[in-house]
Amino acid sequence: MNRDTLAQILDLARWAPSGDNTQPWRFEIVGEDQVAIHGFDTRKHVVYDFNGRPSQMAHGALIETLRIAATGFYHVIDWTIRAGSPEDAPVYDVTFRNMPDLEPDPLFPYIEQRVVQRRPMRTQPLGSLQRRSLEKAVGKDYSLRFFEGAIERLKVAKLLWDSADIRLRSPEAYLVHREIIEWGERYSKDRLPEEAVGVDPVTAKLMKWVMGSWGRVQFFNRYLLGTIAPRIQLDFIPGFSCAAHILMQPRTAPTGLMDYLQAGIALQRLWLTATANDLYLQPEMTPVIFRWYARAEQKISIVEALNQKANELTEAFESLACAKKDDSFVFFCRVGVSGMPRSRSIRKDLGDLWVG
Ligand SMILES: Cc1cc2nc3c(=O)[nH]c(=O)nc-3n(C[C@H](O)[C@H](O)[C@H](O)COP(=O)(O)O)c2cc1C
Repeated sequence: MNRDTLAQILDLARWAPSGDNTQPWRFEIVGEDQVAIHGFDTRKHVVYDFNGRPSQMAHGALIETLRIAATGFYHVIDWTIRAGSPEDAPVYDVTFRNMPDLEPDPLFPYIEQRVVQRRPMRTQPLGSLQRRSLEKAVGKDYSLRFFEGAIERLKVAKLLWDSADIRLRSPEAYLVHREIIEWGERYSKDRLPEEAVGVDPVTAKLMKWVMGSWGRVQFFNRYLLGTIAPRIQLDFIPGFSCAAHILMQPRTAPTGLMDYLQAGIALQRLWLTATANDLYLQPEMTPVIFRWYARAEQKISIVEALNQKANELTEAFESLACAKKDDSFVFFCRVGVSGMPRSRSIRKDLGDLWVG
């Protein structure tokens, strides 16, 4: 395959989603029809990247996007995890094969259109065709549990409200939040632009100032009910204002890298299919991630009260989902109809994603 075609495929694949737009991948051309993807994770400094799982799911989303992108250029891909590559820096070897009669994947047109919507969406319920199409998108290895109707959405909004309290009071999460927002911007190549975060401009200004130091955050939280405004705007209102929340559960418990890659493939198929069905989507991973910590008996924070809160949140989540302690949750999100977001994360230039 010529270099131009390869560059066009990778240029499209770049639009795969990743937690906080970290883009935990770099590309290397290793042969005429061969690319190595150098994955990495952020578990050492990002509290949300529990055991690297969200990054691994992003790798899976990238591989699926690459596969779909390649079909638009008459190519299929084969990929493997390079033997001996470390779990926190896995290398994926991808080979492209030309198939002149190949039809583009039906999800191809949605690769660039897919975007996160963090603002309130309409409460218009999902149609049965939309629901079936989302279920089909994730395949037989995953089940989808839909939380619909005002009462269920209200219960999820309360869960997100409680989850946000842990997020906003944790010094470990503060270290992440202060790095990931590009203030005053509508587009960001390597973070979340302020306007895509989902708060009004006045709250955003206040958040920027408060997040300037951990002392200010603590003072605001303690004396000025500082978590209330962001929790209302980022969690409670959007939690209620959507068509449905969707919990994706694997039918067999994931055990390692390959299983989280597969979950990432399924999540990207779900998201692209939502886009094809005129729905927007927002991942809501914090309750899932806090549950991973709680069920592995690992601490989220040096603040013991927050670990205790995560245990309570986990029980509330399981009770809401009618799930048992050892059932697996891999992805949680909300979907609905809305206008197109005015602001979005864009991506690093392809030129900045090469290694070698
Ligand atoms: C594994 C994973 C977890 C994510 N978790 C969240 C989340 O909890 N909350 C949220 O608002 N967005 C979440 N996102 C969305 C990313 O922040 C978003 O995809 C990224 O910033 C790029 O923006 P885009 O999807 O609009 O292109 C997640 C994405 C992935 C792939």
